[in-house]
Amino acid sequence: MRGGLRVTVTGGAGFIGSNLVYWLLRHPAVGRVTVVDDCSTGSMSLLGSDLADTDFRRGSVLDAGLMEKAVTRADAVVHLAALPSVPRSVLDPVASHHANATGTLQVLEAARRAGGPLVVAASSSSVYGAQPSLPKSEDSRAMPLSPYAVSKLAAEAYLGAYHACYGLPVLPLRFFNVYGPRQRAGHPYAAVVPTWIDAALSGSAVTVHGDGTQTRDLTCVDTVCQVITTAITDRVTSPWPVNLALGTRTSLLDLAALLGNVLGSPLRIEHTGPRPGDVAHSQADPSRLLDLFPGARAVPLREGLEHTVAWHREQRATSGPPAGGS
Ligand SMILES: NC(=O)c1ccc[n+]([C@@H]2O[C@H](COP(=O)([O-])OP(=O)(O)OC[C@H]3O[C@@H](n4cnc5c(N)ncnc54)[C@H](O)[C@@H]3O)[C@@H](O)[C@H]2O)c1
Repeated sequence: MRGGLRVTVTGGAGFIGSNLVYWLLRHPAVGRVTVVDDCSTGSMSLLGSDLADTDFRRGSVLDAGLMEKAVTRADAVVHLAALPSVPRSVLDPVASHHANATGTLQVLEAARRAGGPLVVAASSSSVYGAQPSLPKSEDSRAMPLSPYAVSKLAAEAYLGAYHACYGLPVLPLRFFNVYGPRQRAGHPYAAVVPTWIDAALSGSAVTVHGDGTQTRDLTCVDTVCQVITTAITDRVTSPWPVNLALGTRTSLLDLAALLGNVLGSPLRIEHTGPRPGDVAHSQADPSRLLDLFPGARAVPLREGLEHTVAWHREQRATSGPPAGGS
């Protein structure tokens, strides 16, 4: 028998959102899942057969009427909808601001009018930007280097303000580099893990921006879904941002070596110049996360990459390489 929690997921047709919907639909405490997505970067097909079990509302979080209907009677809103790319924001900062900052404000407004469901929202490690300290602690100063990072900083600050002004229960989570099944390659803003897997499976070289010594706190999407699901069922809140990563640090060259190992043959690497807005090193201080979620577990990188490679192989077997992929 299903439980009674009603959860609205914005961006539920995206990479992280579709994984989260999968988790929520299988959780005994969750009764109904509503998805709001304009399918600008996501796709209904990522939900697979789960689509039939969700209340899917195609449209933008910027549409106040749509958001009001989608949030009424929700116990929790997980706000993942965004234009999620640093380079995209460098090319079109206003579009990123609208979707990410104004979009978050609209979600919060809908939640406030709906009587105050928990709002969990995705911020990003990119807010640390030029902050040199490592690991990145939420107490250190945000020093954003891109319009995307600024839009995420505004979004998490809005959550804090809605808690302070209206008592809304909130949880702003700073995601680090999330990877896993359903993260697609084959578009100009694709992330490093799917892009490299796709290139390697196509027999192409992988591109490393800079010398490859830059580091990332790679976080398996299952870790993210586990934490968000616990936040909803146990009603975990924080007006202050919380890093959602377990404090690992992998250089791009080490990632390439491990991926080659998982794929069964070494990756061929080509170096190009560094990208504007990219940060050199990223590693979370997970203390605040572990205080709030003592059961948070990092999926080991090798295990996460094995699942991710298996998903890419399955996709190729059923529908061929991604359109526009390498
Ligand atoms: N993937 C990562 O490594 C990472 C890291 C830090 C933060 N984040 C954040 O996590 C969230 C999810 O990212 P993702 O990697 O799944 O990206 P994604 O592009 O796969 O998902 C974003 C979803 O939001 C939808 N969307 C965009 N604008 C919308 C709008 N105005 N109204 C309704 N839907 C809209 C897209 O169609 C898409 O389905 C984003 O907020 C992103 O900024 C992701």
